[in-house]
Amino acid sequence: MAIDRITELLDTTRLLVAAPIEPVHPDPGIQQIPQATSRWLAAASTSKTALDDPHGWYQRTLAADAAALGVNVLQLAVGNLSPEERQETQVFTRHTLDRSVGRIRPFALPADSYAWTAPSWSVLVKADQRVVTHAGIIYRVIRVGQLRVPVGGIGGVMTLHDWRGHGYARAALAHAAAFVGMQLWAPFALVMCPRKDAGFYEHIGWHVAEAVIWCEQRGGRVMLEDEVAAFLPCQGEAEWPSGPIDLGGTPW
Ligand SMILES: CC(C)(COP(=O)(O)OP(=O)(O)OC[C@H]1O[C@@H](n2cnc3c(N)ncnc32)[C@H](O)[C@@H]1OP(=O)(O)O)[C@@H](O)C(=O)NCCC(=O)NCCS
Repeated sequence: MAIDRITELLDTTRLLVAAPIEPVHPDPGIQQIPQATSRWLAAASTSKTALDDPHGWYQRTLAADAAALGVNVLQLAVGNLSPEERQETQVFTRHTLDRSVGRIRPFALPADSYAWTAPSWSVLVKADQRVVTHAGIIYRVIRVGQLRVPVGGIGGVMTLHDWRGHGYARAALAHAAAFVGMQLWAPFALVMCPRKDAGFYEHIGWHVAEAVIWCEQRGGRVMLEDEVAAFLPCQGEAEWPSGPIDLGGTPW
């Protein structure tokens, strides 16, 4: 009977439709907060069959990591670096890179005044008992188009001048990629670099994502200028999603 009553009411009550709301155009220069999304990029399988498959990405990565490419690579949480290592790796920050001759800064700001994220882990190659190659790693869930994507953010990639051409950066990045796939369980390693430097990453198998990059700075959300995002699938051949990239924090 109650249902009959509701139906009856629906039949006789005039349907009220709200007047259409005109879209509000934001002031130019102010970025709207993007719609929150809860959709994730499909994660790699953790099944025993997938992980035990000798031809699968997990076993292949384990084997490649063990081979170590003939270079002695050290991988440590930043908190575990020795005082000497800590001091030596400070040379390899975005700030140092940005001060290199002819390098364009990612923002029209002095390099030491913009906000950026320091690495949580450091990959080091040592020679003559000092750090000569470095790559920093952070974990971040970024957004690409409508998807949330976990990444290992790689930054501060550099080999000291006199030690270049020995395969040290290649070895450090191979270790970093294995760490991203196996320890952080993230499908991609992601680096931001000036477009002219992307050639190095492409040469060693990374890909440039042709998309705008948004990030946080003290004044709000800004576009990362003059830089591109280069990614490497670290859990097999995951496909990079399409759409703008939102770093969801400061760049690294
Ligand atoms: C780019 C850089 C990290 C390379 O370090 P490295 O230890 O000399 O690199 P590797 O010896 O491991 O080189 C690996 C391969 O990349 C190639 N390569 C090196 N620099 C390259 C470049 N700028 N463009 C294209 N390929 C490059 C090497 O020839 C080598 O190729 P091969 O193995 O086929 O012979 C180093 O030159 C550097 O510190 N540059 C300044 C900072 C910088 O540009 N950082 C990266 C962008 S943020």
